[in-house]
Amino acid sequence: MKSFSILLYLGFLAAISEGQVCNDDRGNLQMCSPPFVNAAFNRSVQATNTCGQAGPTEFCPISDWGRRLPCQVCDAQSPRTRHPPEMTTDAEFPRTWWQSDTMFDGIRYPVVVNLTLDLKKSYDIDYITLRFQTSVPESFAIFKRTTESSDWTPYHFFSASCRNTYGKPDRWYPTAADEAICSSKRGYTDLFPLTGVRVPFSTLDFRPGLSSFDNNPVLQEWVSATAIRISLTRMDTFGDEDFGGDTVLKSYYYAISDIVVGARCNCNGHASECYTPESQESDREVCRCQHYTAGVDCEKCLPMYNDKPWARATSSSAYECQRCECNNKADSCSFDQDLYQSTGRGGRCVDCRDNTDGPHCERCKDNHYQRSSDGRCTSCDCDPVGMFVSDGCII
Ligand SMILES: *[C@@H]1O[C@H](CO)[C@@H](O)[C@H](O)[C@H]1NC(C)=O
Ligand SMILES: *[C@@H]1O[C@H](CO)[C@@H](O)[C@H](O)[C@H]1NC(C)=O
Repeated sequence: MKSFSILLYLGFLAAISEGQVCNDDRGNLQMCSPPFVNAAFNRSVQATNTCGQAGPTEFCPISDWGRRLPCQVCDAQSPRTRHPPEMTTDAEFPRTWWQSDTMFDGIRYPVVVNLTLDLKKSYDIDYITLRFQTSVPESFAIFKRTTESSDWTPYHFFSASCRNTYGKPDRWYPTAADEAICSSKRGYTDLFPLTGVRVPFSTLDFRPGLSSFDNNPVLQEWVSATAIRISLTRMDTFGDEDFGGDTVLKSYYYAISDIVVGARCNCNGHASECYTPESQESDREVCRCQHYTAGVDCEKCLPMYNDKPWARATSSSAYECQRCECNNKADSCSFDQDLYQSTGRGGRCVDCRDNTDGPHCERCKDNHYQRSSDGRCTSCDCDPVGMFVSDGCII
């Protein structure tokens, strides 16, 4: 299925373990997480440009060793010669790839081509690996979205001209937990072979604060993403395009054979599985929440379990949510910080039934009294027996 066995760039998040169960053998609750997967596998990808969409176009590949090969055709209508973006996330064999139009067709800096991959849910990203079918572009960037409605934030810039293209210095290490750095191309590729090179980006390598990941909200947010965007900015043409003819221009284009996203479905330590609910209209995924948590990412407590503040599970505590005491008179409670500080129980029951009131539905509402015959809270106005001070009503 979605799991895959050959992991080339196992990083910090992958190393913690396989998926973990939320209750151990002895029934103790513990931090848990879904298995480590390739979150890109079999996902749809949107590209702002794909070759052959306005009719067949010609491209002239360059071999691994820099030789120009015979020209070929890309035709989005033809099953044999099309290169749609989904070919970056399909099965590896036989190798298929996405491809853009060529420089001849107008794909040239500052025209940028974006590939966007929606993960359908937030994932904790460990690494992203791109495998280029052409030579590695001169400048490209990876962006991510933390929530479905947030802006795109930069993850990493790869460029042989960091300052010129992205206005950033060329760096090896980030100095802040959530800093997207630009690293020069020469650091991660050799000149040959030109094609089929894998470029990895590890989200946590050398990040300040990594040793306290469990207690570091900035890093936790940094690895979390609901969508990934690859922004292809400049091709590596070695200056060729200024001198060559049509064939030279047709030999420059973007092509990616694989996008791999090594990640875990993000459930804040409260689930060991994610799934797509059958009933819902959309195809978005959700966590199967444990520890009395709820929500797409187990980011809150179940309605009746707000006696303590919600917290992400850590390796030292599961931080399971705690049930409120509502004397069977309510179905939900909300967390109240003042109540928590004064009594140690923060759950304030909501909509107490049967004319009850109080944080735990433990007393009768104002202008109500507890009828001695059946113990029910009864309105003073409509029962003459209630007109006694001793029964809690004021005459
Ligand atoms: C890929 O996704 C499609 C639905 O989009 C599904 O029918 C198919 O089974 C999936 N393939 C694998 C190998 O998971
Ligand atoms: C490509 O993505 C970048 C970063 O999100 C964005 O600023 C730019 O407008 C996008 N370009 C296109 C053509 O979609």
